[in-house]
Formats: sequence, structure tokens, C-alpha cells
Amino acid sequence: MTAIDRSLLASLAEREQRTFDEAHPASKAAYNDASHLFGSVPMTWMNKKAGGFPIYLDRAVGNRVWDIDGHEYIDFALGDTGAMAGHSAPEVVDAIIHRVRDTGGLTTMLPTLDAEWVAAELTRRFGMDRWSFSLTATDANRWAIRLMRAITGRDKILFHSYCYHGSVDESLIVVGPDGEGMSRPGNVGEPVDVTETSRVAEYNDLEGLERQLAHGDVAAVLIEPALTNIGIVLPEPGYLEGVRALTRQYGTLLLIDETHTFSAGPGGMTLAYGLEPDVVVIGKSIGGGIPTGAYGLSAEFAERVLERTDLDLVDMGGVGGTLAGNPLSVAAMRATLELVLTDDAFVGMIDTSSYFTTGIEQIFERYDLPWSINQLGARAEYRFSKPYPSNGTDAAAAADGELEDFIHLYLANRGIMLTPFHNMALMCPTTTRADVDTHHEVFESAIKELLGLQ
Ligand SMILES: Cc1ncc(COP(=O)(O)O)c(C=O)c1O
Repeated sequence: MTAIDRSLLASLAEREQRTFDEAHPASKAAYNDASHLFGSVPMTWMNKKAGGFPIYLDRAVGNRVWDIDGHEYIDFALGDTGAMAGHSAPEVVDAIIHRVRDTGGLTTMLPTLDAEWVAAELTRRFGMDRWSFSLTATDANRWAIRLMRAITGRDKILFHSYCYHGSVDESLIVVGPDGEGMSRPGNVGEPVDVTETSRVAEYNDLEGLERQLAHGDVAAVLIEPALTNIGIVLPEPGYLEGVRALTRQYGTLLLIDETHTFSAGPGGMTLAYGLEPDVVVIGKSIGGGIPTGAYGLSAEFAERVLERTDLDLVDMGGVGGTLAGNPLSVAAMRATLELVLTDDAFVGMIDTSSYFTTGIEQIFERYDLPWSINQLGARAEYRFSKPYPSNGTDAAAAADGELEDFIHLYLANRGIMLTPFHNMALMCPTTTRADVDTHHEVFESAIKELLGLQ
């Protein structure tokens, strides 16, 4: 298998950095001048950049982005999934403009007729019976956690090691060297020791999961059905069925977070794999770019919650927010689900993604690289290991920051954008095979340079 010469990598990375600096004077100056922003950016993650400073956005449409230095990019990052419907899809823009300009009423604390339509559509797709809205998937997870604790009377939530579910305090736990949970490295200002609120198991490890559930104190298992935030780690045969069987056996609820795995199809992995969760959480892309999130309860779980008249679910219950379910985000969700991320659209997106995946596999084979790629519907992500890791800890160990930064910069310098903290490519309804061909030409040329072949 072909190995990477690290000194060649370092010198190529230096060359790409110079090119990036020279091509982006306006972005560089804007970043250097941003002295009132915490960390110089409006949100801390924007500092996860391959090139020393982030590209500043000028405008975006479909799967194209333009920066303030005038460069155009084919966007495979799509806001790390928030823009899976494509940037400013015309149908979503029309619905937003109608609400903003024609009817008015952006935040009113009053329901609109769109809300029941959206909830019914989410029921059609994900099978959950009752839905409530938030502004982020993080909040949807937090609010669902409260309900699940209240109903089970148990205090711990179980996660997969190296999961990501937003900034949910309970989720920042990993499997430590002794096989038990410990705080995830980088967990800032944890309110209490995370092992007091949480348990953890490796993905694809039913024995480890059962060992933790056997303590009898786990209210809920809160998981992505495939890990998507540490590469794409797919379920081994029988794993997801095993999770459901064990949670039922130990009286533990199951929350499936579909925020990213929605890429698997119109009803995410819940529909595609016939999963039977008690709660589904989704967010990000369903608003077509407008902030939103949602949690859905199965008919049985909703009944268990609603019959608990002792619980305050109207006022202080901690399961709502002033702007959640506002008319603007609900209108955006309706337009996105009804007109953009439709069943038909997923057929095309998944086909383009398969084309992307096959092309990358061919490149890895052609150059005998010990790398691999996994696909989950409309998204695909490669990892610098082969075979692809089967749990979060192994996937974390397969990261290679230098190599990633080089590839990201190489692509950015040639008009292609990936999310800086993922080797992930996501297809929106307007991504074409020609866009994929362009990516693959540039990617292959990066590989040839890395191997000293050009
Ligand atoms: C699986 C999953 N859940 C939740 C979230 C948090 O979403 P938000 O940023 O809307 O809070 C993310 C964000 O990437 C995610 O990937």
C-alpha cells in the first residue's frame, strides 16, 4: 500500500497556504480586523479553518458559494448539512418572503396553520405521532432528555463514544482506557462530572451497551443510527436491532437523532432501516437554512407523557422557548419538506452521492491508498484508514490533521469547498455529476502531487 511522504506533504501544504493567502486578501484583512468578535469569528467553529483564516461569504445559491475575493466554489459542505436543500432554494425563499413581507408576523407566540402540516409530514416520514419545535437540534435533544428523565424516573442518558448531538452537556462523554465513561477531551466548563449524568458505549458494541444498561439507571439511549460526526460509521448487521431489543429489555427509551442521518432518505434511517424509536430528533436542514429543530414522540411515549398531569409541560417544564415554532421557521420547514427535500429529490441526491463514492473508491484503488469511503444516502465521507473504522474511538484515531488541511486547501484553491472539520461531501438537489467530476479531477491531482507523480 502506498505511504505518504510527510516532508513532501509539508512542502506542498506550505505552497498551498501561500496560494491561499495571495488569493484571499479581502478575507484575510476582514479576519485580522475583527477585533470585537470573540476569537475573531461570529461563532467559534468558524475558526476551524484549514488556511489560517476563514473564507468570508459574499453570496450563495444552490450548491455554489462566492467569497468576498470574488472566487466561486462548488459547495460540498452545505453549511455542514444546514443547507442540504441548497442555498436559498427558490421555493423556500418565496415562502420566507411571503411570511416576512406579505403576511408579516415573524415571532408572535401564536401557532400558524403551517405547523400542523409540517408535523403531519414529519409523521409520514419518521413515523412519530406528536411533534414539537425548537430552534436548534441541540435544544430538541435537551428538551427530549427532560421528558425522558421525567417519565422513566432515571437520571442517566447513554451515548456513543465520539458522538455529536450539539452542545448537550450530557453527551460530552467518551469511553476511557478502562472501558468506562470519562469526560470528552476539550469539554469546557462541564456543570457536573459527566459520569454523573451519562453513560457511554462504543458504536457497534452490543456487549458494552448491555453492560451499561444493566445498571438500571439509564433513562434513554440517545444516538445517531450511524455516526456522522467522526466520519460516517455504519451499523454492522444486527446492531440497530440489537440496540432496540436491549433498550426494551432494560426499560430504557430510545432517541434517534436524525439531524445528519436524514441524508439516508426522506425519512432518514428511521424509515430506511425500519427503526422503532420512542423519540426522533431532527434539525438543521429541514428549515432550508432558517434555524429550526423538532422532536417527535411515538404514540405510546406521547401517551405516557400526556397522562402525567403532574408534570408542568406548559410553563416551567423546560421543554420550550419563546421563538420556537415561530411562523417564519415553520413556513420555511413547510416549503423545504413540501417542495425541495421531497421523496423524488432524495432519489437524485443519493444517485449523485453514489457516483461521488464510486469515483473516490476508484481513485483510492488506482493509487493503492490505504484509505476508504462510506456513503449514507446523499452524504459520503472518506477516512485515512482501511477498512473503515467501525466505532467512534477508532474513527477518531484515524484522523490526520495535516493531510486533511492539505486536501481542504488544495480543493479550496481550485474552487471546491468541503467542511473544514469533515472529509464529507453532501449532495443537494442541484449538485450535478459534472460537479462531482470537477471535484474528482482536482482530488486526483492532489493525490498525484502527494505521491510525487506530477
Ligand atoms: C447529529 C446532530 N445532532 C444535533 C446537532 C446540533 O444541531 P444544532 O447545531 O442545530 O444545534 C448536530 C449538529 O451538527 C448533529 O450533527
